Amino acid sequence: MLIDSYDRVVDYIRVSVTERCNFRCQYCMPEKPFSWVPKENLLSFEELFEFIKVAIDEGVKKVRITGGEPLLREDLDKFIKMIYDYAPDIDLAMTSNAFLLKGVAKKLKDAGLKRINVSIDTLKPEVAQKIAQKDVLKNVLDGVQEALHVGLKVKVNMVPMKGVNEDEIIDVLHYCKERNMGIRFIEYMENVHAAVDIKGMNSDELLDVISQHYKFVDEGFDGHSPSHYYSLEDGYKFGIIEPHKDDFCSTCNRIRLTAEGQLIPCLYFDEAMNISAAVKRGDIKEAALILKEVVKTKPEKNRWSDPDGEASKRAFYETGG
Ligand code: 5AD
Ligand code: SF4
Repeated sequence: MLIDSYDRVVDYIRVSVTERCNFRCQYCMPEKPFSWVPKENLLSFEELFEFIKVAIDEGVKKVRITGGEPLLREDLDKFIKMIYDYAPDIDLAMTSNAFLLKGVAKKLKDAGLKRINVSIDTLKPEVAQKIAQKDVLKNVLDGVQEALHVGLKVKVNMVPMKGVNEDEIIDVLHYCKERNMGIRFIEYMENVHAAVDIKGMNSDELLDVISQHYKFVDEGFDGHSPSHYYSLEDGYKFGIIEPHKDDFCSTCNRIRLTAEGQLIPCLYFDEAMNISAAVKRGDIKEAALILKEVVKTKPEKNRWSDPDGEASKRAFYETGG
């Protein structure tokens, strides 16, 4: 079992298969980065899989494929099948912008993918165009429909932003509720790569909006999910991810691996160790040592809640959020 210095059990790894993305979301990658990681520095699926096996053997129970946009990487279904065949019982999930999902949802499900998280920040095509800087909405909604159709569980992420989509919180909630999909509202996390003028909404502001339409009950936290859950009178639950709250990190159970092998203990900080050389050498022991070291150095908490509210220098498109 992997346990960090604050007695948190780490049993969840998020694996980014590419930092590239076909969207340019304002809160993540509003401009194409100065340079992409050169292709030769990317770990192959076989190499990523070697490390995932180490992590699973050390006690990891949940693997989430992320990006950038993971569907930009060819043969992702084969990668998913490798993980599924090794450990059919782990929680195998993916986060995607869903633009390319329609054509591959069935293949991913058949390969062993269980769940998918998708961003729906708006239901208005022109707002989607403004956020992602591309006309994306139709493809995204078609992708979500198809994922539901083939039996994948779908959860929606929405990042509410003042003056952008704050008037659609209830509409997106309805959209998800009608389709029996979960929704999590994510407080915008300040980072130096995002557009400078974004104003996020905090959980109190969000609850204020929702309370004008619904009565709800505070359900607290559910296991290690970072979401604070609330239930409506008909039982439908929505979640809020509140990284600015002081105790947000107290139940953190996750680490992140980038497509070039950086193993990252915390989404906020720059610190990381690279597993690439160890994996390329086939040195499983060394990979396991690095994994344990990274878990040991997991910081107690992020600094988004500091009074000076500093932005993170970490790029969300490298860590997959
Ligand atoms: N703040 C909050 N959420 C973000 N995401 C990406 N960047 C940010 C940010 N700066 C979320 C997106 C997507 C997931 C991968 O991460 O909503 O669903
Ligand atoms: Fe791409 Fe996701 Fe970042 Fe948007 S948030 S630019 S979809 S990686």
